[in-house]
Amino acid sequence: MADDVSYWLSSTPPTSYPTATAADELRDLDVAVIGGGIAGLCTAWALARAGRRVAVFEAGRIAHATTGNTTAKVTALHSAIYHHLGPDKALRYARSQQSGLRRLHEAATEVGAQCDWEARPAYTYAVGADAADSLREEAQAAAEAGLPAEFVTTADLPYPVAGAVRVADQAQLHPRRFLLALVEDVVRLGGRIYEQAQVTELGDGTLTLAGGRAVTAYDIVVTTGFPAFDRPELFARLVPKRELVVAAAIPAEADPGGMFLGIDDDRSVRTTPLDDGRRLLIVTGETYQPGDGGIAQRYAALTAWTGEHFPIAGVAYRWSAQDYTTTDRIPFVGRFPGHDRVWVATGFGGWGMTNAMAAADLLTARITDRDVPEWADLYDPHRLHPVKEASTLAKAAGTVAKSLVGERLTKPDTTLDELAPGRGAVVTVDGRRCAAYRDEVGTLHTVSASCTHLGCIVGFNDADRTWECPCHGSRFDVDGAVLQGPALRPLPPVQPR
Ligand code: FES
Repeated sequence: MADDVSYWLSSTPPTSYPTATAADELRDLDVAVIGGGIAGLCTAWALARAGRRVAVFEAGRIAHATTGNTTAKVTALHSAIYHHLGPDKALRYARSQQSGLRRLHEAATEVGAQCDWEARPAYTYAVGADAADSLREEAQAAAEAGLPAEFVTTADLPYPVAGAVRVADQAQLHPRRFLLALVEDVVRLGGRIYEQAQVTELGDGTLTLAGGRAVTAYDIVVTTGFPAFDRPELFARLVPKRELVVAAAIPAEADPGGMFLGIDDDRSVRTTPLDDGRRLLIVTGETYQPGDGGIAQRYAALTAWTGEHFPIAGVAYRWSAQDYTTTDRIPFVGRFPGHDRVWVATGFGGWGMTNAMAAADLLTARITDRDVPEWADLYDPHRLHPVKEASTLAKAAGTVAKSLVGERLTKPDTTLDELAPGRGAVVTVDGRRCAAYRDEVGTLHTVSASCTHLGCIVGFNDADRTWECPCHGSRFDVDGAVLQGPALRPLPPVQPR
C-alpha cells in the first residue's frame, strides 16, 4: 500500500515552529512574509542576509503544501515556453530562470544543505510527430534565448520519443532538505518563523492574524499560491491545476539520468537517490482542474503507466500537487496591485524552484532599494496582454461562471439516501447544494457545497477524500475545515432534516 504522503515529507522531520503569541513583539518589523513555501522562505532568507528584520507567517507548516509536494526540478526549461514568448521576452525569461538556478545552488552551498543536489539535463519531449515538430522551434527559441538547448531525436527513456528539447547543466534536489537548512540560517540571522499563523487581513504596513493579533511591518510580501486578499486583477488571471504523483524504487541502472516532461502524453519523470543505492522514480501526470472527479481512477492510470515502462515492484508513495498558472504563463512578481509597500510572488505554473529564487532576488532588490535585474519588468503584476491572454482568460472566467451559476442549475446525480459508504457527492438538501460524504462506517458528513471564498460549488476528490473548488483551488476536509486557501473560513455544516 503506497504511503499517501510525499517522499519529501516522509524523509524529513516535521517542523514545529511556534505560532505567534501575545509575548511576541510583532510591531515595526522590517518585512513580514506571508506564506512559508519556497518563495516565502527564499525571500525571507535573502532579506535576512541583507540585514532586514524579517518574520514569516505560515497558515500551516512551512515547506509543506505546494512546496512539500513539488517534483523539485531546478531548470530553466519550462515545457515549451520560449517560442510562445517571442525573442525579447524569451531572452529575459531565460536569464531570470538561469539566475534562479545559479542562486539556488549558491544558497544550498552557503548554508551547507545536504539536499541531494544533482546536475542533470532537462528534456521536454514529444511522443507524436506533430508535437515533435513544434519542439524544433522551441529548441531554436531556447537556444537563441541563451540556454544550452538542442533538438534531439532520442532521450534516455525506456520508451520512444519523436523528438525532444534537451537543455544541459540543469539540476534536481530534495526541496525540504534544502529549505529546512535555509530556514535554520534565517533563524540564525535573527529572522522569525511562525507556523499555524494564518493571516486574515492585509493593509499597507499592517496585517491581522486569525484571532485578531495585529502585525506591523514596513514591507509585506505575499507568497501564498493564491493571494487570499481581494485583488480582482490577480484573481481573474490565476488558474489552478492539480497533478498526481507516484513514486517507486528502481535499480540504479534503470535511472534514465535526466528530468523529462512530455508535452503530448501528460507525463513527467525524474529520480532521486535512496539510501540503499537504488533510485526513487518520481512520475507525475494526470493533470486536472480542482473539483474534477475520478481521482482514484487517475491514480490507477498513472500507476499502470509507470509499471508498463519501468521495472517497479509496487508504488511506495503517491501524492498530489497544486499550482497556479497565470493567463500569460509568466509569474507575477512585484508590487501587489492597490498597495504601496506590499509585494507579491505567485503564478509559477509548476516551476517553483528557479522561479522562487529569482522572485526572492527581485523582491529583495526592490525592498532594499538596490538595482533590480534587467528582467524585472517581465514579471510586473500590473502588466496586461489583452490579445495573448484573451482565450485563457475567457476560459478561466468561464470556469468561474459555470461553477458559480450553471452548476447550481444542474440536477445532482445522486441523493443522500443513495450515497454509498466511501462516496462523496454534491446533493440537494432542503433546496440547497450540500457537499455530502458517507464514511466507511456509514456516518454522513454534510457541509455547504458553496466555497467560502467566492461561492463556487466544490467537487469531491475520491482519492484524498477532500472537497476541492474549481475556481481558485481552495480545499476542505469532509467536515468542511480549510486545508488550502484562498478560502479562510470552513464550509459550514448542514443538518439534513
Ligand atoms: Fe475561490 Fe472557491 S476558491 S470560490
